Amino acid sequence: MEIKKVAVLGAGAMGHGIAQVAAMSGMEVNLRDISDEFLQAGIEKIKWSLDKMAQKGKISQEEADAALRRVKKFVSLADAVKDVDFVIEAIPEKLDLKKETFREVDKNAPKHAILASNTSALPISEMASATTRPERVVGMHFFNPPQLMRLVEVIKGDKTSDEVVRITAELAKKWGKEPVIVNKDVPGFIANRCTITGSNLVHWMVYNGEYTVEEVDAAAIHKAGMPMGMFGLLDYTGIDIAYSVSKFMQEREPGFKMSPLLEEKVKKGELGVKTGKGFYEYPDKKWVPLDLPLEKAEKFDPFIPTYVGINVAAELIRNGVATRDDIDKALKLGFNLPMGFLEIADSLGIDVVVQKLKEISAKYGPFYKPSPLLEEMVKKGELGQKTKKGFYTYE
Ligand code: 3HC
Repeated sequence: MEIKKVAVLGAGAMGHGIAQVAAMSGMEVNLRDISDEFLQAGIEKIKWSLDKMAQKGKISQEEADAALRRVKKFVSLADAVKDVDFVIEAIPEKLDLKKETFREVDKNAPKHAILASNTSALPISEMASATTRPERVVGMHFFNPPQLMRLVEVIKGDKTSDEVVRITAELAKKWGKEPVIVNKDVPGFIANRCTITGSNLVHWMVYNGEYTVEEVDAAAIHKAGMPMGMFGLLDYTGIDIAYSVSKFMQEREPGFKMSPLLEEKVKKGELGVKTGKGFYEYPDKKWVPLDLPLEKAEKFDPFIPTYVGINVAAELIRNGVATRDDIDKALKLGFNLPMGFLEIADSLGIDVVVQKLKEISAKYGPFYKPSPLLEEMVKKGELGQKTKKGFYTYE
């Protein structure tokens, strides 16, 4: 089956970017949103981004103009999906709304069409259950900004066929992306699941007054190579997005207890760059890289969220959700990190990670107890680089 024409539902932060990458690959794109105003705002953003790429010589101005012409605007959902091979939704992160949309899309899209969700964490299988074609429903999760970030997580729902997973991964490649496969529909999939669990612990630490936002970000930027810091990234992506992922994790993940930090921000309407204020201020509602002094980086150990993330990653391997290579690829390409968590685990030492997790769980609860996989590795003496075998082997 060849994908020639796609529909993207939602022209917001993610939807416009996904529509753009599809159009840049030469495909016809039907972009749908609920009002002309939202559609126009999405088109303006696509135009800005294409022009920026042309200015930088990444594409020619002709290619930019042609890509823009390939994106058609639709308010009617039925019209947007009626003649496409692939539909991807990037609408708000509300499961009921997503299910309702999938139901409508299923009624109106051609029988052969694959239906995908760009959800950050919500269950693909539940969206699929609203359709008559659950084997053709799949997760296709992009990272913000979709035009620049190379990762796409392809998520298998309970009933998704292997062929649909393969076609979706191929499509991601045609769009210039690097797919990883998520074999089981777990909340947060790979990249968000590994990072949000550790971030939530840091949110508790800030909430409890152990560290300031600036101390965390200075250490994350200067010592761990995170391009935007932890709180800067929340502002950039939207605190409401992280809040909805965390809330969902709390509902579905036994032991995950969300810190009140994000909820407080959401209640105040301080959602980050898009509202002009989040953890930092953005008078022009535009992202400005953080300029934090090196001295501020001294107090916080930026590997605290990594130890927790390594533990989550180990459980993903133990439970057959994803491979070692896909986990590290997801973390590096999803957040532009210099190393994957499992590579970091090997360089820190698995015994050190287990010890740190024991300390963290003694203070913050059994949810952070080391994975049996990590304990087993320590027993076998597979401690990482120092023993030449850990998650990877070394010569
Ligand atoms: N299209 C085209 N160009 C763009 C762009 C876009 N959408 N967005 C930014 N640019 C441009 C900038 O304007 C800038 O142009 P300039 O040089 O003329 O000013 C250029 O790209 C490069 O930007 P910068 O020099 O400011 O910064 P970087 O080189 O570091 O690259 C970045 C920007 C790739 C976004 C980098 O900051 C980064 O990797 N940040 C981390 C992003 C991240 O972690 N994303 C994941 C979020 S979580 C997620 O999405 C999951 C979801 O489920 C919530």
